[in-house]
Amino acid sequence: MVLCRQKDKINAQIEAKSTMKGLILSGGTGSRLYPLTYTNAKQLIPVANKPILVRVIESIHDAGIDEIGIVIGVGARADMVRKEIGNGERWGIAITYITQDAPLGLAHAVKVSADFLGDDRFVMFLGDNVIEGGISTLITKFGKSDWNSQIVLTHIENPQQYGVAELGEDGSIRRLVEKPKNPPSDLALVGIYMFDHNILTAADSIVPSARGELEITDAIQWLVDNGYAVHPYVHHGWWIDTGRPNDMLNANDHVLEEIAYYVDGLVDADSNVDTRVRVEEGAEIINSVVRGPAIVGKNSRIVNSYIGPFTSIAHDVLIENSEIEHSVVLENSSIKDIEARIQDSLIGRNVCIHRSPVKPKALKLTLGDNSDLGIL
Ligand code: DAU
Repeated sequence: MVLCRQKDKINAQIEAKSTMKGLILSGGTGSRLYPLTYTNAKQLIPVANKPILVRVIESIHDAGIDEIGIVIGVGARADMVRKEIGNGERWGIAITYITQDAPLGLAHAVKVSADFLGDDRFVMFLGDNVIEGGISTLITKFGKSDWNSQIVLTHIENPQQYGVAELGEDGSIRRLVEKPKNPPSDLALVGIYMFDHNILTAADSIVPSARGELEITDAIQWLVDNGYAVHPYVHHGWWIDTGRPNDMLNANDHVLEEIAYYVDGLVDADSNVDTRVRVEEGAEIINSVVRGPAIVGKNSRIVNSYIGPFTSIAHDVLIENSEIEHSVVLENSSIKDIEARIQDSLIGRNVCIHRSPVKPKALKLTLGDNSDLGIL
């Protein structure tokens, strides 16, 4: 079974090789994730200790694509993306950065990528989407097809927040609408799109929407209206657009169930660590309990503590005399001597949560703008 999957992956890589490009959209401000994204691009926030953008690059690479363009904005967040991702050497692929001066819409991002795309067929991924593994065959199939586009749809409870597709009785696309107040169906557009060069003509032919963006949804509608073949694929696995903190935790839950579990760090004799736990190199679990699925990153220390299910602890974190579950803690943070269990929390980089012995007994807080703190 594993061998078969491996063979499928290799076949997909051979077939797609040099026939398609990848385009990842990683601009935008990530304002719904403030304060985490004041100093960091949202696409670089890790899920199960791996940045979402890296997951997207690896999915595209799995489909045999070795030329990827990444659309970035301007300023510090864009610099961070370049620095963290680099030129693609570590995956054996070539990465080209494409600057979009302002986030004027997903179709605008395609327009600014015209030189990079040339006449090639390509798969476009939104850099903040996390999807269940196994989509490489879908991309390969498009590469070999004569469709002008393939879109990925999924049934969803709150279609108002997404692009929505209405299909005809024969399963073909009748209409696409962006964030409709009265959705014509519950089929949302997932942030993965496949196109040939005609999308560039479509993007040139549409006008900005009411929210002032050139919508990719309108560009695809233009393809449909002008007789191009747009194939809808309905995805039945999980998919998360990580716009808000809860989405991040949700994505973390799903990915933690898919990762490989192993213990490369140290677990002392007084600790109890579940089988569905990854303890990375240099990490130490001392007199603690870790319930899976969970991950403890490189050189992190868990001392006299409880780490509950669905928790990702990044590298170089200290958790001492504390309890935490269903949470994400980013690197270089420390949580010490906290009596109440921390749960459903997203904790950023270099955060320090500790008990202070200084009287009077009071909460002393240094919180960034738009922080959200729940106190009993
Ligand atoms: O997540 C799926 C949804 O993504 C689709 O259902 C919608 O049809 C589609 O319009 C899009 O909606 P969002 O409102 O969620 O898109 P958002 O503004 O969050 O941008 C998605 C990604 O693209 C994000 O990583 C930032 C990047 N981006 C966005 C814009 C507007 C760019 O690189 N450039 C841009 O101009």
